[in-house]
Amino acid sequence: MDFKTLQAPKDGLCAISADALLLVLAAGSVPASLEATLAAAVKGAVDAGDLALEAGRALYLHRVPGLKATRLAVTVCAASAAPAAWRKALAAGMALLKGGGARHVAVALVGADAGAEHAEALVALAEDATYVYRHTKPSAPAASRLERLSLVCEKAQAKAIEAGLARGRAIAAGVALARELANRPANHCTPSHLAAEARALARRHARLAVQVLERKDAEKLGMGAFLAVAQASHQAPKFIVLRWQGAGTTKVARAPKAAKAPVVLVGKGITFDTGGVSLKPAPEMDEMKFDMGGAASVLGTFAAVAELGLAIDLVGLVPACENMPGGGAVKPGDVVKSLSGQTIEILNTDAEGRLILCDALTYAERFKPAAVVDIATLTGACVIALGHHRSGLFSTDEALAASLLEAGERAGDLAWRLPLDEAYDEALKSNFADMGNVGGRPGGAITAAKFLQRFASRYGWAHLDIAGTAWKSGKEKGATGRPVPLLTHFLIARAG
Ligand code: BES
Ligand code: MN
Ligand code: ZN
Repeated sequence: MDFKTLQAPKDGLCAISADALLLVLAAGSVPASLEATLAAAVKGAVDAGDLALEAGRALYLHRVPGLKATRLAVTVCAASAAPAAWRKALAAGMALLKGGGARHVAVALVGADAGAEHAEALVALAEDATYVYRHTKPSAPAASRLERLSLVCEKAQAKAIEAGLARGRAIAAGVALARELANRPANHCTPSHLAAEARALARRHARLAVQVLERKDAEKLGMGAFLAVAQASHQAPKFIVLRWQGAGTTKVARAPKAAKAPVVLVGKGITFDTGGVSLKPAPEMDEMKFDMGGAASVLGTFAAVAELGLAIDLVGLVPACENMPGGGAVKPGDVVKSLSGQTIEILNTDAEGRLILCDALTYAERFKPAAVVDIATLTGACVIALGHHRSGLFSTDEALAASLLEAGERAGDLAWRLPLDEAYDEALKSNFADMGNVGGRPGGAITAAKFLQRFASRYGWAHLDIAGTAWKSGKEKGATGRPVPLLTHFLIARAG
C-alpha cells in the first residue's frame, strides 16, 4: 500500500479528490476549525441522533453535497488525540470503509495536530488490516480494495509526518514478516526454513550477517539442553545467529565501549510443540505451530531495524527445532547438561522452551551484551495471568524494564511487568540435578522466568512471555506479529 502526506487544498478538505475522506474529530464538540460544509454534515448527523460526539463513535455518509470525495467517514477521537485514542478512532473509521469501493482514502485529523506518531499508527493499522495469508491458500480474497492512504497535514508538519510514515512502513514490514512466518504450517516452516529466511533477509542488507550452527556445532559447544529437545525430530535443529552492525556508521559521537556492546534478542523457535513424551492434548494442538512466534518476532525486528538503518549493533539468536515424542525422545526424569554447565532434570518434556532458551542465553555471553531480551511463547500460565492484551515482562534490570514498557506504550504493543522474587525459585529444586525444568502450576509464568534467570546472570536481562499475544485463536486464527512494534521502538530509542 501507498502512504503519502497531503497538503489540504486552498478550498479545504471538501476539495480533496480522493475516493473517501476519513474525518477524525478530536473533540467532544464540533471543532471550530472544521469547515462549514463538513460542520453542517456532522451537526446534521448529531441532531438526527445518528452520531454522538463521543470517542469511539463513527458514521458513514455517502455523497455529501459540496464534498468532492464520494464517501465520508466521520470518527470521533478523545480530545487529547493521543496515539492510543487516535488508533481506536482510526480503526472505527476504517471499519466503515473496509468493504466498500474506496481505493484512495484521505485521512484528516481536525481539532488537534497530527504528528509522526499519528502517521506511524495509520500505517500500522492499515497494513495490519490488509494483510492476507496466502502461502498455502493462494485463493484467499483481498482484505480490501484500499491502495493508497493520504494523511492531510500542514506544510510545516510534512517532514515529521513523512518520517512517521517511513517508520510505520518499516515496522509494518517487520510485523508482516513475523506474521507470515508464524502463520505457515509446521510442515512448511521448519527450522531449516527459518534459517533460509534469515539468510534471505541478510542478502537484502549489506550490514546484516547470518550464521547457522548445525547439530554437530551445537554438540561441540555442549548445548545439551537445546539438543535434548531436538533429539526426536526428523527435522534438523538450527541455531541461527544474526548480526546487524549499524553503530559503526553513526556520525554521532559515542563512547566507543558503549557502541560496541550490542543488544541481543533471543527468540524461541519451536516450529512445532507436541509436548514431546509429556504429550499435549489434541484440541488446539495445531496452534503449537505458532510456538516459533518469538523467533518470528526476532526476524521481523531485524527486518525493521535494517529497513530503518538504525545506528545500533544488534545480535539475534534463534534456537530452532521441533519438540516431538518418539523412540529417541528425551524422557521425564532425564538429566541433561546445559551449555552453562548447570544440569537440568527434565521433569516435563512440554516445558521445552526454557530448555532451548537457556543455552541461547549462555551463548549470548560471548557478545558481551549491553542487554539481552528473550521473546518466547513460553507458558500457558502467562495467558491465564494477562490474557491476550499484554505480553508478560520480567527483568533483572530496572532501566531495561522501564524502557521496554515505555516502548510498548509508544508502539501500542503493551506489556506488563511480573515479579522475579527469590521465593519463586524454590519450586525449581531437584534431587537429581542443579534444577528441574518445571515448578508446578502456581505462578507458572514466573517459575519459567526464574528458570531462565539462572542462565542470565552476566548481563542486564529481560524476558517477554508472548504466549497470549503472538497469535489469535478461533475465527480470526492467525499470528499478530507482536512484539515486533515494541522491540523496534525499544531499539529506535536506544539508537537515539
Ligand atoms: N508453547 C507452550 C506454551 C503455550 C501453551 C503457549 C499454550 C500458548 C498456549 C510451552 O512450551 C508449554 O508447553 N508450556 C507448558 C509448561 C508447563 C509444562 C510447565 C505450559 O504452559 O503448560
Ligand atoms: Mn511445550
Ligand atoms: Zn512450547
